[in-house]
Amino acid sequence: MKQRENVVVLDFGAQYTQLIARRVRECGVYAEILSGTTPADEIAARSPAGIILSGGPGSVYEPDALRPDPKIYDLGLAVLGICYGQQLLAQHFGSSKNVCRAKHQEYGRTHLHIERSERLFCGVKSPLQVWMSHADRVKQVPDGFVRLARSKAAPVAAMARPEERLYGVQFHPEVEHTEQGRAILENWLFDICQLKRDWSLKSFIDEAIEQIVQQVGEGKAVCGLSGGVDSAVAAALVDRAIGDRLVCIFVDHGLLRAGEFETVREVFSEQFDLNLVAVDASDRFLDRLSGVTDPEEKRRIIGEEFIAVFEEQASSIGDVDFLVQGTIYPDVVESGTQSSAVIKSHHNVGGLPDHMDLQLVEPLKYLFKDEVRRVGEQLGLPSEVVWRHPFPGPGLAVRVLGELTADKLFKLRQADAIFMEQLRRYGLYRDIWQAFAVLPDVRSVGVKGDHRTYGQTVVLRAVTSTDAMTADWARIPHEVLDETAGRIVNEVDGVNRVAYDITTKPPGTIEWE
Ligand code: XMP
Repeated sequence: MKQRENVVVLDFGAQYTQLIARRVRECGVYAEILSGTTPADEIAARSPAGIILSGGPGSVYEPDALRPDPKIYDLGLAVLGICYGQQLLAQHFGSSKNVCRAKHQEYGRTHLHIERSERLFCGVKSPLQVWMSHADRVKQVPDGFVRLARSKAAPVAAMARPEERLYGVQFHPEVEHTEQGRAILENWLFDICQLKRDWSLKSFIDEAIEQIVQQVGEGKAVCGLSGGVDSAVAAALVDRAIGDRLVCIFVDHGLLRAGEFETVREVFSEQFDLNLVAVDASDRFLDRLSGVTDPEEKRRIIGEEFIAVFEEQASSIGDVDFLVQGTIYPDVVESGTQSSAVIKSHHNVGGLPDHMDLQLVEPLKYLFKDEVRRVGEQLGLPSEVVWRHPFPGPGLAVRVLGELTADKLFKLRQADAIFMEQLRRYGLYRDIWQAFAVLPDVRSVGVKGDHRTYGQTVVLRAVTSTDAMTADWARIPHEVLDETAGRIVNEVDGVNRVAYDITTKPPGTIEWE
């Protein structure tokens, strides 16, 4: 990627780190997240105009606290420390004693009283409602710094050493609940860092295409389409760059949602005129899965079979050098920065065999999910594809608990399709991260007309989330649930009970297996 005006966000493990980078990008400036302990010369090599120190769960006065390379302060760059980031500044320029456990911890909304605007708060009202989330606080401003603001529990809620462009805030300007958070970030970006707005998805698309052309040259590439948005957008982008030299392989493993195979074929083959090989391998997968009940064993078999089918198809194309993958930024960040606690374990097309010797083309690896969706829209992908809920690689196999049968899959698909139709009808689909039906293979007694029934139960699951790492159950109006349950028991043969899952993640997971 061309050197552009940018900001580096150093990650000290806060839940909001990705949000900081997204907010900066929303302001039109490219932001990249690096591990909090990245050496200063690696940071300098990216020529950022400023560094943001993120929040984090640790305490700066603990011996094993994560700290940035102290040489970052010699780079002459503007620095903004947020929460733990401000405490790092207070410690580095003062002493560990400057940071202590707060008598009254602040979580949630509080009022910020601004004492000096010092460019950061230029045009910002006071008092200001801000979002805090801290157990520690800065007691005293370090030498050379001035206090800019205070709150009830944080005597130093913002501070600065303006000549050196070092700023710290205890609150979170990046979260929605902070009033004028965007104005504060913009003051830092455009007034203090003197950045220009040069990041936009349009410029991203142009550059990404140019880069793919350079990387692939006259070579051929394959892409595994899954029906999901990431692989779809990656394929559409690579198609713009190399046209017919991209072949997309879409494997129907018999575990797709209702209408999925047809939609993907229609969109990519007919509307986009992409080189698409759609393979119906469902018998092959379902044969191998017959009698298998263990979820991990199901995943293993599906993964193995997927690779076998994919490899057969790719080798029949011949002379393929590149593999296009829809890796997105959160995947890269989650496995790449030391400070993030959780590493994603699910990958749709993981580990193709080494002997295939394909080079990866990952055009979306700097984008967040919402940016991927907007790129998809700009490339003209239909909203049905762009806004489709995420879907696991092993598909419905992890939503039919226990052994898979054609009959159970049929019931599940019908119930799932009704649920989706209802969510769309009531305008709820887009606000939900993921919604689906599960067949737990539990039978219960019911009554239909004058007859006793002994039928299957369908569980509905719908969650809100930003990254699938944590999730809350979606507060779907009772009337919608009521109508959906009514439709399912009436329209899906052999189902006589519907339950709604109200478990959060953690401790639950989004999927049932
Ligand atoms: P869980 O169930 O772990 O799911 O809360 C988090 C996200 O990952 C998806 N998921 C998978 N994706 N292969 C995938 O490609 C898998 O084996 C797999 N299992 C779960 C899930 O749908 C959710 O979006």
